[in-house]
Amino acid sequence: MLDSDLSLEFLRVVERAAIASAETMGQGDGMKSDRAAVEAMRQELDSVPIDGTIVIGEGERDKAPMLFIGEKVGIVNLSPGEQRARRVVSVDIAVDPLEGTNLCTTGAGNAITVLAASERGGLLHAPDLYMEKLVVGPSSKHAVHLDASVAENLKAMAVCLDRDVKDLVVVVLERDRHEWLIEEIRSAGARIRLIADGDLSAGIAAAVAGSGVHAVMGTGGAPEGVLTAAAMRCLNGEIFGRLVVRNAQDEARCRAMGIKDTKRVYTSADLASGRAIIFAATGVTDGTLLKGVRFFGDGTRTASLIMQTEPHRIRFVDSIYVTNDENVKIRF
Ligand code: FBP
Repeated sequence: MLDSDLSLEFLRVVERAAIASAETMGQGDGMKSDRAAVEAMRQELDSVPIDGTIVIGEGERDKAPMLFIGEKVGIVNLSPGEQRARRVVSVDIAVDPLEGTNLCTTGAGNAITVLAASERGGLLHAPDLYMEKLVVGPSSKHAVHLDASVAENLKAMAVCLDRDVKDLVVVVLERDRHEWLIEEIRSAGARIRLIADGDLSAGIAAAVAGSGVHAVMGTGGAPEGVLTAAAMRCLNGEIFGRLVVRNAQDEARCRAMGIKDTKRVYTSADLASGRAIIFAATGVTDGTLLKGVRFFGDGTRTASLIMQTEPHRIRFVDSIYVTNDENVKIRF
């Protein structure tokens, strides 16, 4: 069981990363934006009372200086007594310090900072491959499947959502590999929102009624798939995902991470199997569910989504960091 106070600790981690990366918005330098988010997240994580291990991060140790897979994070150098007093727990952590780097570099919407946590072993150690994905909300989750045709899935969703197929909106990453998919969605009659990046924030939107997004379809990053699964566990939505394994090298990467059946269709309960899941995200640029970071001279305002399965709770958090206490005016 993860202490539910931890969710507030993780809140400040994603908030700090969002503020740091938002300062670089529109500067056209993806490396700089990413580095700002990674460094802020790493630094903030080290004040959280956890014995944490990064299981989804910035890549292998030799490719990433920080937040690499296997890296230990959390409060360090505490005696066992202090650890008990501060209730330090062992957790696995998945991060995407800046989901939608290009969105941040151009100031486009829906860039977010993301972290998910679970008790040890509760998040799949997914290799950095592509994953075929289908993400839907609670109403449609029992009626669709990755191996059904696009038209069948859309028809089933329309029935579950009590509307016509033409009233559905499907988010698809705008990539050449999705030409066939876009064609199939169009011929089935549904509407499409093409996005430049960010299938994780789109997946969260698909699980929230009233967001105007009903599904995400197509192939994106597998690490983002695991993070989406953690969000789905909290929102009662569903992700169906299958790794895209193209050659012997990909097979070997899967085996090295303990994945034997590479053709398996995973659900959120497989990808984020932990009993206690915490998911935290903060908007960097304005998005469908979360506003981006706002700097107003005397302070900074952030919008975040903090969710957990135990106790099951979803919070939209609006934080204001004040720099000038005496004269600052807080707006509603
Ligand atoms: P970043 O977090 O690296 O910015 O990834 C953005 C993203 O668009 C993801 O949302 C998506 O899953 C993946 O990249 C798609 O990968 P590709 O750009 O190679 O199609």
